[in-house]
Amino acid sequence: MKEIFTLPNLKEAQKRTHTDAKIERSLFHISEEAKRLGIGRKYFLRTYGCQANERDGQTIRGILEEMGYLPVMEADTADLIILNTCAVRKNAEDKVFGEIGQLKRFKLKNPDLMFVVCGCMTQEEEVVQTILLKHPHIDLIFGTHNIHRLPDLLYQATLTRERVIEVYSQEGDVIENLPVRRDNSAKAWVNIMYGCDKFCTYCIVPYTRGKERSRTREDILEEISTLIQDGCQEVTLLGQNVNAYGKDLYGENCFADLLRSVSETGIARIRFTTSHPWDFTDELIDVIAQYPNVMPYVHLPVQSGNAEILRIMGRRYTPEDYMTLFNKLRARIPGAAFSTDIIVGFPNETEAQFEDTLRLFQECKFDGAFTFVYSPREGTPAANMVDNVPLEEKRSRLQILNKKVAQYALENNLRMVDKIVNVLVDGPSKKNSDVYSGYTENNKLVNFKPIRECINEIVQVRITKAKTWTLDGEQVE
Ligand code: 5AD
Ligand code: SF4
Repeated sequence: MKEIFTLPNLKEAQKRTHTDAKIERSLFHISEEAKRLGIGRKYFLRTYGCQANERDGQTIRGILEEMGYLPVMEADTADLIILNTCAVRKNAEDKVFGEIGQLKRFKLKNPDLMFVVCGCMTQEEEVVQTILLKHPHIDLIFGTHNIHRLPDLLYQATLTRERVIEVYSQEGDVIENLPVRRDNSAKAWVNIMYGCDKFCTYCIVPYTRGKERSRTREDILEEISTLIQDGCQEVTLLGQNVNAYGKDLYGENCFADLLRSVSETGIARIRFTTSHPWDFTDELIDVIAQYPNVMPYVHLPVQSGNAEILRIMGRRYTPEDYMTLFNKLRARIPGAAFSTDIIVGFPNETEAQFEDTLRLFQECKFDGAFTFVYSPREGTPAANMVDNVPLEEKRSRLQILNKKVAQYALENNLRMVDKIVNVLVDGPSKKNSDVYSGYTENNKLVNFKPIRECINEIVQVRITKAKTWTLDGEQVE
């Protein structure tokens, strides 16, 4: 088999120049030949990882469906399998390699099956080398900067039967006018910026997703206005660091302005994620507090409660800075819920440093948290640090922290009991189809028996019972 290669390079991916990102409005097209490629063919897409990746998955689906492919829920009937991968931790990668092995049997049964791997993992040299050496059944690998090239790449791989790898390790541009296929008509993710320039010492994201670059206000507002016309009730503005929105295009402190403009579109609900404690301005707090359609929920990753660990992580704030911001948010946004991300077992984290994290957690009484054991990522500075903390110890710290997470989740939920809250209804709950579920304004999952058909509507529900991760309620109108 001949092979067509553009391989990833983490060193290249790390470079940041002063060149502005280009906004490409007409880069995406589907050639006449590629347009017919999907007719009569079915695709199976599995996406791993964060919302940015989920949103990319919706773009990939949009592209494939424009090419005539139809979606299937099971890989065994697919003509095209795509794994859209996540690289943030080793266990996420292990899962993907497990899946690559598992799905191999379909390729053996059907040699015409096209097997594709994309997403953050493909930006890593090591991963691509492993696929090249050990998984010859993968036909096409493309990177996070190459999504718009999917029609051509698929065409090339299908027609030539050559293995195709195209992974650009560049800072990245903003590519507009890509198709999108969303399942839920009431809720939508809207990218406002891409990439990350923070280079926290443990994190691979700045290498896999390129530099911070923003979409224009006009493009974002136009997308939202189309969504509103199509019945959308809730948008979640997405970026690795939404607070840095617009720095590249317009200068400092643009996110507050953008949020105000999105609020003025009149859409029922606005969420945003993720916020770095850095660049979280008072003006932004004012906008969240003043505009009722900006939802009272903030995800604010702290990572650690110890000053020295935060310094080595390159987070550029102290626990005191974080608490000052957190307390301001609490005071200004009544009824708001807060969640965070925490990494335990960063190289050489001492017991006392971990206890600082527990103390900060107790002080903030977070409604929820995503907690992780530190995972060394090849190419990042932290991966080269000598580490004296045994894995067993790290796991035990995670367990101790997770107990606290559950404790405060329940305590916060208990405070919701007897309150009447607005719930945007998603539809039948996963466990019981007689029960509907949806989210409160402060992002809590509520289950209730509907008294009328109300999917995709905002209804009032009285909370009757608090559990650790969900609430039960009764619909009141
Ligand atoms: N190890 C463990 N957790 C990590 N995260 C990012 N990189 C790593 C890593 N190397 C976590 C951080 C981040 C979240 C998305 O993933 O907490 O906020
Ligand atoms: Fe990773 Fe830090 Fe950027 Fe978040 S801010 S994506 S943790 S480098």
